Amino acid sequence: MKRAGVFGGSFDPVHTGHLLLAEQMAEEAGLDEVIFIPAFRSPFKLASDPAEGEHRLRMLELAVSSEPKFRVSDIELRRGGASYTSDTLDGLAAEGGHGELFFIMGSDSLLGLDRWYRADHLLKEYSFLVGLRKGDDEEEVRKKHAELLGRFPGARIRLLEIPELEISSSDLRLRHQAGRSLRYAVPDAVLEYIDASGLYTGLLEKLERFAEERQNPHRLAHTRGVVEYAEKYALKFGADPFKAKAAAWFHDNYKEAGALEHGPKAAEELQRLFGISDPDILNAVRYHTTGRPGMSLLEICVKMADLLEPGRSYPEAQELREMVDASDDPQRCMYELIMRANDSLYAKGKVPAKISLDAVEYFRSKYGY
Ligand SMILES: [Fe+2]
Ligand SMILES: [Fe+2]
Repeated sequence: MKRAGVFGGSFDPVHTGHLLLAEQMAEEAGLDEVIFIPAFRSPFKLASDPAEGEHRLRMLELAVSSEPKFRVSDIELRRGGASYTSDTLDGLAAEGGHGELFFIMGSDSLLGLDRWYRADHLLKEYSFLVGLRKGDDEEEVRKKHAELLGRFPGARIRLLEIPELEISSSDLRLRHQAGRSLRYAVPDAVLEYIDASGLYTGLLEKLERFAEERQNPHRLAHTRGVVEYAEKYALKFGADPFKAKAAAWFHDNYKEAGALEHGPKAAEELQRLFGISDPDILNAVRYHTTGRPGMSLLEICVKMADLLEPGRSYPEAQELREMVDASDDPQRCMYELIMRANDSLYAKGKVPAKISLDAVEYFRSKYGY
């Protein structure tokens, strides 16, 4: 009987890591075909394109066009809404002609497989290929594997050690937004499609429009200053200027959440509304008010910009700008700035947030200031 792998995902965009995984799974498990299935996603993100499902499908078709054993199915896109794996596999089985169906998944999914919708049915009717990755807790995975085989007699679940390329679609989207190359990370035909269709562009413009809608003129002027200075400091100290600007546009969009809460709230919304999952950007937004121990160079640049943008007019602002301009030690500058901010809070009879005090301690002990 024919053997077909079923490989689901967002594929936004499909990349070389996906293709390599499919190829190696096919080889290891003796699959005659691998069916790539882009998942339907509800169009809730502001950054998303209404035709985004079509784009993901088209990119997959281009990516697999030169490999006869790879094909693409729009079964989940056509159905719309969230699809249960059980419905997808039943749908493919009903199409006929695929033979035995092997669902391809990561070991993280295996750990929860018995809680999936219609797990009994799935484990009775279909086979599973589980990719074991380097960072996985192999003992835990093997234990779960044995447990499932015990509880579901006759289940066909195979663990495969497959070396995986560490490419992530969300990193690729961000790289393209920042005007950086995706060459060799995605097939050439996909790259051409991305360029021709204008996918993954215009994030900073969207963030700017969003800030314009949410912020009053006074705050917006501050935000524009922070964007300008975040880029300036990123270029000076060697952080990513694109990420610095993205974080700066968003950092004060939720001021109404409160002095200490608006950073974390903004980070949450940036991820939810714009699909940004880059931890460095999110942390630069999350900790812009307080700083934190172990803050990254990007976090430092954004926080510095927030304190020193041209609209800041507290007495020592100009002196501090000059200190940063003359320095080649961003950690030291950040230490001074947080320390002074804490001192000025004490002077007003307030107590700084614990995390800000910890940040000062961190710089002191790590760098010996
Ligand atoms: Fe803020
Ligand atoms: Fe701010």
